Amino acid sequence: MAIDDQTRPVDAPRPRVGRNAELRSPLRYPGGKRQLVPFFVDLLKLNGKSPLDLFIEPFAGGAAVSLHLLAAGLVERVVLADLDPLVYAFWHQACFRTEQLVADIAAADVTLAEWHKLRAAPGKTLREKAYACLFLNRTSYSGILQGRAGPIGGQKQQSKYKIDCRFYKDEIIHRLRQLGELAADGRIAAVRRTDVRATVRWVEETYSQTQRLYYFDPPFWEKGERLYRKAFGHADHKRLAKLLIGLQAPWALSYDYHEEIVDLYRASVQAGGGGHSDLVPVGKPRLHTADLLYCNRHEKRGATELIITNLADVPSEHVNAT
Ligand SMILES: C[S@@+](CC[C@H](N)C(=O)[O-])C[C@H]1O[C@@H](n2cnc3c(N)ncnc32)[C@H](O)[C@@H]1O
Repeated sequence: MAIDDQTRPVDAPRPRVGRNAELRSPLRYPGGKRQLVPFFVDLLKLNGKSPLDLFIEPFAGGAAVSLHLLAAGLVERVVLADLDPLVYAFWHQACFRTEQLVADIAAADVTLAEWHKLRAAPGKTLREKAYACLFLNRTSYSGILQGRAGPIGGQKQQSKYKIDCRFYKDEIIHRLRQLGELAADGRIAAVRRTDVRATVRWVEETYSQTQRLYYFDPPFWEKGERLYRKAFGHADHKRLAKLLIGLQAPWALSYDYHEEIVDLYRASVQAGGGGHSDLVPVGKPRLHTADLLYCNRHEKRGATELIITNLADVPSEHVNAT
């Protein structure tokens, strides 16, 4: 690892992230929701709120939607939160200690030995954890940081694709510096390591006067425990439903489609469309579905995504007719 360097070297490029820029997440996140970007772009436009003051992702993961909306100038600021200490450390360092993480990535030894070392002990400091998160994410199958997910290329590295095949240092560093720029401009308002309920409580206390939209993307109902280091069991899904049904601020939620989830929200659901706009929550959540395509090394799989929101108007071209 490189020596501690909290300041940006004078000769380091400072790529300005203008409005209408493209910013992709440095993380290849399992269950990442980049496919929902067009839905959110049109949701904001439809509700006459672009740019929006604040977009909040309490289950940030790779934060694909937040970063796109931010770089495109469709939202002014974002709050990112995730309970996983490695994921939190990544966002903290990427945003507020960018050049440290850049130096660590530039110096990274992208080998199987390093992969085993970091899997066994991801580190204690924020700096070490952030590096471990990004390294393991870009060198493990499907970006999974835990469990049985092995290194890309396998333990024997006999595959055509080796452990470093997704570790494009220049591109990762470019994305990190874009993030640092946005954070320096105050557009990444906060990065937090909090449970979803604590995040919502904090945002409602801190930004009650701000025009805001939450995007909740919890771990999958099915198989979530295989993908993420933080477990989210049935009781957690239930508690989340209770929290959201009572939340007055505008929100949207996405899920893998399961009748059990529909049941959690159905009791309070209003059917049909509505005439509201201006990002005014309608009070009761409404259910929609959308078709997504998930790809991994074995397959391309179509899946139905459940989208629940307390906004009246959703862009009909992105959701299935009901
Ligand atoms: C489906 S992923 C989010 C993916 C993200 N939307 C993206 O596009 O990359 C769910 C995330 O929730 C986090 N998580 C799990 N339990 C949580 C909790 N109780 N509070 C906050 N975050 C949690 C996991 O660490 C994981 O990063």
